[in-house]
Amino acid sequence: MDLIARIAAIVGEKHVFVDAEAQAPFLTDWLGKYRGAAAAIVRPGSTEDVAAVLALCAARKIPIVPQGGNTSMSGGATPDMSGRAVVLSLTRMNRVRAVDPVGNTMTVDAGVVLAKVQEAAKAAGRFFPLSLGAEGSCTIGGNLAANAGGVAVLRYGTMRELTLGLEVVLPDGRIWDGLTALRKDNTGYALRDLFIGSEGTLGVITGAVLKLFPQPMARATAFVAVNDASAALALLSSVRARSGDRLTAFEFMTGDCLSLILKHISDARLPLGAPPPAAVLIELSDADDELELTGRLESALVEAAEADIVLDAAIAQDGAQSKAFWRIREGVSQALVREGKAAKHDVSVPVAAIADFVAAADAAVTAAAPGVRPIVFGHLGDGNLHYNLLPPVGLGDTEFAALAPGLTHIVHDETRRRRGSISAEHGIGQLRVSEMPRCKAPIELELMRSLKGLFDPDGLLNPGKLLPGPAEN
Ligand code: FAD
Ligand code: MLT
Ligand code: ZN
Repeated sequence: MDLIARIAAIVGEKHVFVDAEAQAPFLTDWLGKYRGAAAAIVRPGSTEDVAAVLALCAARKIPIVPQGGNTSMSGGATPDMSGRAVVLSLTRMNRVRAVDPVGNTMTVDAGVVLAKVQEAAKAAGRFFPLSLGAEGSCTIGGNLAANAGGVAVLRYGTMRELTLGLEVVLPDGRIWDGLTALRKDNTGYALRDLFIGSEGTLGVITGAVLKLFPQPMARATAFVAVNDASAALALLSSVRARSGDRLTAFEFMTGDCLSLILKHISDARLPLGAPPPAAVLIELSDADDELELTGRLESALVEAAEADIVLDAAIAQDGAQSKAFWRIREGVSQALVREGKAAKHDVSVPVAAIADFVAAADAAVTAAAPGVRPIVFGHLGDGNLHYNLLPPVGLGDTEFAALAPGLTHIVHDETRRRRGSISAEHGIGQLRVSEMPRCKAPIELELMRSLKGLFDPDGLLNPGKLLPGPAEN
């Protein structure tokens, strides 16, 4: 029996897409940067389905590309153009399996959308803190495989810190049931953490046990104008000194970034008039007493203004205004896509080095490509900046595409000079795989290759992503 018929016998005929129209949404990435081809798009309904499909594909040496919400910003979920791969979409496996408000855990299918997990936590009087612009379509499996970050890492950590257990199907079809709700289990290597951030190259995540947190009953949000990244860093220290771990989000945007948002996002309104040189969106949250929380934020801002760190500030007076402030920040990805093809970078450096990195990178890219437009924003409290470059006005996409690799080298070199990382949260995918030999130590690549060889000796899981092939060395 041929492959497609065998797979259809496992998952059901209507969950196997072979025609071009049905396949199309699964074969290009959210940015529209990558396009692929597939033997089939397969939507398994259970862990057992996934296991049977993987075992079948392993026997026939058919590559598998795991996919969740297909919101990857590094081309991680898009197959190559060979047409040999099966794209395994986990989106049918979208159940919340169990919520335990006493143990503060939630057990979910990998294909459940992040927003649904947030809602289920809230319905149980709890909070699941992962929050990012794609939360309406990204899935927990993709969040885990990409070790997603988002706007609340400062307080709650990345997906690695939010996860207790995993259920994974290995490339040969064996199922690892690691769905533990234990907070402490010291019995050997951290197998769970190997799969988190593995970008679909070591196994297909089919389930997870997530941590739940107390619901924040009080929030205080401010939109603060500052001169530059170094002022923002000083403000971070001041707010942190006053609020401790109530500080939940600290999102930086340059003035050029704000102007782009105003240009492309019709319902974005800046609360302080014209775009300042830079701005920070700050959010504190706590279990109770909103007044006390707002007071803390206010006194931190007054202190910062007296120290000439802050140019101006607006504190949200109600939930609607807080949402309006967040609308500005959430609009940036869309604004960038509407402006055109940017050279995207997702770097992290030690927090104290952020301002120095921005100044050095700005100077270096401008020297290399006069008129290039840095659009800088991100999770400053985590040391993570999205350092995107738009072409000089008037330069076409093709000409800029020819410049982009050199500019990426410059940005990554400035990052590495400060012992930073070339991907803080979006992952390597296919976008940055060519940079791995330059930016990862040989011993790291060697160890990762050994692990890949152990789990996936035939290299069938998500080929071309994360790890450079031998040729790319
Ligand atoms: P996909 O894009 O489908 O896949 C991502 C990777 O995971 C691929 O390598 C894929 O092969 C693999 N994968 C998917 N499901 C599985 C599975 N079940 N088992 C094994 N491997 C799997 N990311 C952040 O970290 N922080 C942000 O703030 C952020 N903001 C974003 C804003 C917007 C508007 C957009 C479009 C994206 C943003 N992202 C952000 C990137 C993206 O949303 C995250 O990486 C997200 O975790 C991807 O989830 P997904 O379900 O869409 O995964
Ligand atoms: C964000 O922080 O908005 C995301 O990581 C998406 C992006 O970088 O565009
Ligand atoms: Zn981000």
